[in-house]
Amino acid sequence: MPDRERWFRAPGRVNLIGDHTDYNEGFVLPVAIDLSCVVRATPNADGVVRLRSESVDGEVALAADGGTDPADVDEVWGRYAAGVVGTLSERGRPAAGMDAVISSTIPLGAGLSSSAALEVALALALCDVADYELPQLELALACQEAEQVATGVPCGIMDQLASLAGLHNHALLIDCRSLEVQAIRLPPRLAVLILHSGMSRALVDSEYGERREACEAMAALLGVPALRDATPQQVADEPRARHVVSENARVLQAAEALAEGNVAALGPLLNESHRSLRDDFDVSTPELDALAAALVDAGAVGARLTGAGFGGCVVGLASRDEADRIVETAAGHYWAETGHQPRAFVFRAVDGAGRIPPQAPS
Ligand code: GLA
Repeated sequence: MPDRERWFRAPGRVNLIGDHTDYNEGFVLPVAIDLSCVVRATPNADGVVRLRSESVDGEVALAADGGTDPADVDEVWGRYAAGVVGTLSERGRPAAGMDAVISSTIPLGAGLSSSAALEVALALALCDVADYELPQLELALACQEAEQVATGVPCGIMDQLASLAGLHNHALLIDCRSLEVQAIRLPPRLAVLILHSGMSRALVDSEYGERREACEAMAALLGVPALRDATPQQVADEPRARHVVSENARVLQAAEALAEGNVAALGPLLNESHRSLRDDFDVSTPELDALAAALVDAGAVGARLTGAGFGGCVVGLASRDEADRIVETAAGHYWAETGHQPRAFVFRAVDGAGRIPPQAPS
């Protein structure tokens, strides 16, 4: 291992409930998971940020002063990196170079925030090699901005903040207006199941921006700062806004149920969230519907698509002793129905991103 090499790890996240609420200044309830992105960085004196990925092909070299435009970078993952170097430079990070190797265990396009984890791990490395520090929230905002610059998708703050603020065995209730994070202990007997539909997210970029615009237009029409402030009566006949308002209420109820260890109360909230994302917000797919239904039929307390939708994963809740049986049964039914082999993830809720000791090669 080269001298002066430092390691930084940033986790992905699964969102228990509260989708398409963050950019409406509402509530979300994600969990940082033990699938993560690791960056091994060595400072250099070249004024260049040289990156290589072990998980996907390619190498990129970026100006350490943030001068590289993400649009000029060929590798998709390199655009996120250019975004991060740029947004940190704007905040005052000195132009220190580094050589870094990136590896990740988070599947791409699964809705588990592989890109947010990459941004956060890189941001920590870039700050460290420049002896530069930013408060956690400012770091999350810089990474969110980097994602927006790199992709043109006007994403919210949930993924980057969850990756930074994660807490072992806890979910995070995030108020996306105040950006306050409240950790809520996960009941020890609760298993959180994640099943990948086998369909990577598609269409998400254009549709995501469209949904966000529709929400903002509706808030403007109602004369409220954000849909967070609308009442159920105001949005009763507006499916998109109705989803946001009802989902915010469900997040708060779910947070309370979780804090009380009332697992049974969580099921209907998850199921209703899926219905609302499918029928009102229109971001589901037949595969996600089939997978959520298969989990519930197999005995999960509740299940819903998680993340932006249009593919990716479903999250379900079950008691620990039943989790394996439920996943197996649901996967079998889903496969029979759709011909897609789902991939199941078993995970723990972990601490947020930070520097880690170098690991011995496995
Ligand atoms: C993506 C975005 C988040 C959030 C979710 C949907 O993951 O990056 O900000 O909007 O979709 O809840």
